Amino acid sequence: MTKPLLVTTKAALREALGRHPSSSIGLVPTMGALHEGHESLVHAAREANDVVVVSIFVNPLQFGEARDLEHYPRTLESDLELLQGCGADVVFAPSVEEMYPNGEPMVGLDAGQFGTRFEGASRPGHFNGMLTVVSKLFHLAQPGSDAAYRAYFGQKDAQQLALVRGMAADLDFPVEVNAVPTVRHDDGLAMSSRNRRLSPEEREAALVLSRALRLLEARADAHEPLDPDSAVALVESQKLVELDYLEIVSPDTLEPLAFNCHETPFTGTALALIAARVGEVRLIDNLPLGTEEQ
Ligand code: PAF
Repeated sequence: MTKPLLVTTKAALREALGRHPSSSIGLVPTMGALHEGHESLVHAAREANDVVVVSIFVNPLQFGEARDLEHYPRTLESDLELLQGCGADVVFAPSVEEMYPNGEPMVGLDAGQFGTRFEGASRPGHFNGMLTVVSKLFHLAQPGSDAAYRAYFGQKDAQQLALVRGMAADLDFPVEVNAVPTVRHDDGLAMSSRNRRLSPEEREAALVLSRALRLLEARADAHEPLDPDSAVALVESQKLVELDYLEIVSPDTLEPLAFNCHETPFTGTALALIAARVGEVRLIDNLPLGTEEQ
């Protein structure tokens, strides 16, 4: 496949897209350190759009801890190689100065009350920073005409996905937000750019997150009470893992479920969300429970 065009300024991105005035555009926003999970986003974009744009930008606004920002992997060369193999047309990899020429922006987006729960509770301001950069990317990559415009986000970041969908709807962005299923390693660990910061022991310990989710899935499939306490106990039995939350929520709204999942046999659908710190690395995962047919 041909090498994607690498652009590092907003003007160069607009110029590149201006060469395809009536083409549909598929945007895949990333922070780089790409893996097979990102590849599946690019494949989904490739299948449905004329032009595929991948952004690579480690957005300082969405990092609370300076250490986390500093240690976030930056691997542009290997990212470009991966993107060449999966059919990206344009890679937008701006500097921090290019995205925020005046330093911290005077105006940003606010993820509201929903943005203070789950991930937002442990990472104050994270979703405000995320929405601010995604709104900029949505503007910068939009087609010149009224051609179709689609953006692709991983289901793994379920709360991010819900917030981006909410932003696009509430603020009338002319973009269709598409969710792409989580990609896992053979042993169940959800793919994440952060996984490469785990030591071999920590990586092994991190498997308890997907095991806890699978335990809940098995109960849901058997229509038993979900009994999340036993899944919590499983995670807490792993010494290298510090559980932040394990929540069973509605897959549509991410609000707590109306039924008592400790006692009531499971029917319908739900989403199990989990977040934990493994050593210095914060990991999240989730799994849909039940099926529409139940
Ligand atoms: O999911 C990510 O990698 C980031 O939050 C995103 C959507 C690229 C915004 O910086």
